[in-house]
Amino acid sequence: MSHKQSPVIAPSLLSADFACLGQEVRDVVAAGADWIHFDVMDNHYVPNLTFGPMICEALRPHTEAPIDVHLMVEPVDGLITPFAKAGANLISFHPEATRHVDRSLALIRDQGCKAGLVFNPATSLDWMEHVMDKLDFILLMSVNPGFGGQRFIGHTLEKVRAARQRIDQWVEAGGQPIRLEVDGGVNVDNIGSIRAAGADAFVAGSAIFNQPDYAAVIQRMRAALAAADQAS
Ligand code: DX5
Ligand code: ZN
Repeated sequence: MSHKQSPVIAPSLLSADFACLGQEVRDVVAAGADWIHFDVMDNHYVPNLTFGPMICEALRPHTEAPIDVHLMVEPVDGLITPFAKAGANLISFHPEATRHVDRSLALIRDQGCKAGLVFNPATSLDWMEHVMDKLDFILLMSVNPGFGGQRFIGHTLEKVRAARQRIDQWVEAGGQPIRLEVDGGVNVDNIGSIRAAGADAFVAGSAIFNQPDYAAVIQRMRAALAAADQAS
């Protein structure tokens, strides 16, 4: 039995207008977004540099929506507490970027945030083993991290199906629910097949922020998700 949760759409601010991020957050949540995906890049783990805890803190009063912080940084631990204090609700990191995966996950939860592991296209799902009890979600990258506007990597769908199986077995055995989020190149045309493969959270940056009407594109995504659920 699938333990897929109701779908969440999380626009990535990486593709928003950085000159008016507060307005962008208000607009995209008013347009129907569920979470705000906040891509943190340190120009070390990935060849790009974005924003830190102070920007997260500045945006916090602009929305009640959960802020989903994706740490593309190395090392990881030093940024967990500052983001939790800045108002993050979910924090995920790349296992290759920390010396002690279990400790980093526990640190996130100790701060009252939901904890997630991020899997690059070449990163094995085996990193989930032995820490399933500390996961609230996993984030599968369908592009290589560092930039928005890239093309969805097709073979991610097999990985989504494999991850869905692991999560369902875990929940069937009495484990806590774990959300399966996909990030990179998600758009109106592929979100249905990603849902059918087993995902229940969808990051979309350029597919939303490059459109003039955020509500229209989010509605089209919701329709594609509903159609995928009807077909399954
Ligand atoms: C890439 C980021 C993604 C990216 C998604 O490293 O983690 O969240 O912003 O942007 P799109 O949807 O444009 O691929
Ligand atoms: Zn991301």
